[in-house]
Amino acid sequence: MGFDQQLLEAALKAGWKYTYLPFSLHIFDTVDSTNQTLWNLLEQGSKSKVVVIATQQTAGRGQWGRQWLSTTGGLYLSMAISPQLAATDAYQLTLAGAWGIAAQLQKCGVGVGIKWPNDLVLDGCKLGGILTETKIQAGQITQAIIGVGINWANSVPETGINLESWQANQNSRPISCLEMLTSTVLLGIESGMECLSQEGISILLSRYLELLTNIGDKVYVNNLSGTIIGVTSQGNLRVSMDFYDTNKLKTSEIYVEPGTISLGYRKYSV
Ligand code: BTN
Repeated sequence: MGFDQQLLEAALKAGWKYTYLPFSLHIFDTVDSTNQTLWNLLEQGSKSKVVVIATQQTAGRGQWGRQWLSTTGGLYLSMAISPQLAATDAYQLTLAGAWGIAAQLQKCGVGVGIKWPNDLVLDGCKLGGILTETKIQAGQITQAIIGVGINWANSVPETGINLESWQANQNSRPISCLEMLTSTVLLGIESGMECLSQEGISILLSRYLELLTNIGDKVYVNNLSGTIIGVTSQGNLRVSMDFYDTNKLKTSEIYVEPGTISLGYRKYSV
């Protein structure tokens, strides 16, 4: 199952405001990781606006050092960007990518939500994820790569869902092929980055929170129960904790860093 570059370029030009593509496309059959392949291309002198797509990955990278299973039928892509951002704000790129892609898929009629911090969810199951990698110099991001994996027609674990099987249960099929999904995702990343750089983190964050599926959920942090109330501009989860102080119920807000707790998935009956 190969990638049809012409179909992708046509889909991109149709959805894009330009008549030319604002990046160069590198399409591979098999790579270890599209993020790694893109870092290699950048080191070899490729100019910043580059996108790498692969049919499959042998060493796909997930968040927190996990492996991302990448058999054929899934979407595996990485886009290089050069944001003007302090290293301490690096997580904003993941928030922007997640919001941009989810919003773009919603525009097409696919009701994707975001599970904190970087998951795309559909019917409570994992549809895809985002892995941002950065190079830092003197406290500034000098180069970043946004890596995206989306389940299209590949097999998925119990907590996952692929878009093809979801569409099979709908009245319409808004995303007609892998190339159209790819174009939608690239457009989503662009719009997320544009929102962050032009409108700023407050607006981006308010849009991200509108698509976040976790608000109001109960969580346990260090065996104490709390309620999710938001996300900070650094990507930390805001949790309101209930506790008793001299027999009085009080609340305090804590901030939980990405990767330190897992929120789990809800599997809804379809
Ligand atoms: C996650 O853990 O949820 C993030 C997964 C990101 C996987 C994508 S697939 C394309 C790109 N290349 C990689 O090696 N990883 C990302």
